[in-house]
Parts: sequence; structure tokens; C-alpha cells
Amino acid sequence: MAAPLETVRTVADLRARIRSWRKDGLSAGLVPTMGALHEGHFSLVDQSRKNNDKTCVTLFVNPKQFGPDEDFDVYPRTEEQDAAALADRGTDLLFAPRVEEMYPDGSVTKVSVPGIGDLWEGASRPGFFEGVATVVSKLLLQSLPDHAYFGEKDYQQLCVIQRMVKDLDIPVAIKGCPIIREADGLALSSRNAYLSQVERQAAPALNQAMRAAAQNIAAGAAVTESVDQATQSIRAVGFGDIDYVAVCDPASLKELSEIDGPARMLAAAWLGKTRLIDNIPV
Ligand code: PAJ
Repeated sequence: MAAPLETVRTVADLRARIRSWRKDGLSAGLVPTMGALHEGHFSLVDQSRKNNDKTCVTLFVNPKQFGPDEDFDVYPRTEEQDAAALADRGTDLLFAPRVEEMYPDGSVTKVSVPGIGDLWEGASRPGFFEGVATVVSKLLLQSLPDHAYFGEKDYQQLCVIQRMVKDLDIPVAIKGCPIIREADGLALSSRNAYLSQVERQAAPALNQAMRAAAQNIAAGAAVTESVDQATQSIRAVGFGDIDYVAVCDPASLKELSEIDGPARMLAAAWLGKTRLIDNIPV
């Protein structure tokens, strides 16, 4: 077993640690998370460790990115387990602030990324990307790492963060990392823990339907019909509301009805009380 992971809870302590790394001439990678860690998160840690001398993981369940009817109160919180696993994976520092440290009384400033942040997840979850952009800009400015790592699992989130960092001249290189999946294709997610056994069996149908549609489109089938077929087969296995299934420009995320180059298929759908999202290249 690795030594316990050093954990800091204040911005001042975080800055002091990273400053001491810098003084020693060491580079720093940052991996922002909301905890309930799984192999998807650990793959970001591995990538950061490959490219940097030191890796800091942040664990903060950010209230500002949850809507009033969303799962903030029940979001899994497993810090002790997460810290032990991160220590085993060679993480150097954990930043796990309390809500009052991130948003002290009087804090009102928000970061919003109109356009790309209003589409898809932004349309289904009003305020979500404002919450994400606000907390990620704070985490980046608090730590000022060389690199920060985000998963393509949340493809639109990655695009929004890249836009924000560019627009605000935040001096951190944003690195996107591939999606880690279960053997049956289901993308790993902390929210998969909400699935019942029966739902867990149905869940991979989302990725399967998307892959079938992407293959058909690549073989020349019409985009709209292929997307409709995917929607139908997702419904057939028991998914309820389908927030969106769409083929988009991979950079602007604007919907495409015809494609003549690389594209991205994005989807979000409900299985019982669990909202699953996925995306694949087309
Ligand atoms: P969270 O859902 O905990 O995810 C943290 C990071 O892990 C994100 O960059 C996410 O894309 C990545 N990730 C999750 N599942 C993955 C998978 N199966 N494969 C690869 N990467 C995966 O995303 C957030 O937290 C928050 O919005 C955050 C950015 C921390 C801001 O609060």
C-alpha cells in the first residue's frame, strides 16, 4: 500500500504546495473531479503522471453545476476510498475544498460560455455549463498547473473548457483523454452506480445504437434516418426520455444533417432515474 495521500482543503495550502514544486523546477498536472472515482478518472491521472513531474487531483462536488431537481444531495461521496486509490495510482496531492472555501459568502461572479455552452447539455441542463466553467476557471487559476486533463466522456464539457481557457487567456494547456468503457461498451460514470441490475443490462444499448448509426452513416446512409433508428432502438430496450441524439460538427457542436468530414455523435438519455450520456466519432 502506498503512503497516505497528502490532502489540502484551502486555496492557500494548494498554492503553497504547487509553488514549492515550481521552486524545485517541477511541472504540474491537474485532474479536476467530483470524486466517486473509477478507471475513467484514473486514466486521466495516468496521463497526467506521464506528462508531468507532479499530479494534483481535485475533488469537489460542485453545487453550482447541479439544477434544483438534480442529484446534488445524493451524488456519491467516497473521499476516503478515492484518496486511497489515488495514492496507489501515484497521485501527489489531493485538493478537496469545502463548499465555503470555493464559494465564500459574497461570491457572485459566474463564467458563462454562450453559443457552444447553450447547445445539447446546456439546453437540457440550464446553468450546468455556467457552473462547470465557473468552478473549472477557479480551479485552474487557484493551481495554475502546466496541463489540466479532461475526459472526452464529457465531450461538450471539454469543448466548453477549451473555449473558456482561450477566451480568458488562462495559461494552462487543456488535454482531452479518451473515453474508458466497460467491456460491453458502457462508458464508465460515477452515475452508473444509480442503475438497477436490469437497467445496467440495458445501458450498453445506448453505445451500441450509436455505433450502429455511425457505421451506417460512414457507409453512406442518411444522417437523420440513422439517428432516428438509433433513437428507436434505445427506446426499445427501455430508455425513457431521450434528451438528444445528434450528429455534430466536432468543434462547434452545431448539428449536421449531412456530413463531408469528421463529425461527433452526441447522446443523452434517461434509463429510469439515471441520465446517461455518451459520444463517439463519426
Ligand atoms: P466528473 O464527472 O467527476 O469527471 C471528472 C473527469 O473525469 C472529467 O474530465 C470527465 O470527462 C472524466 N471522465 C469521467 N468518466 C470518464 C470515462 N469513462 N472516461 C474518460 N474520462 C472520464 O466532469 C466533472 O466531474 C466535473 O464537471 C468537473 C470537470 C470536475 C467540474 O466540476
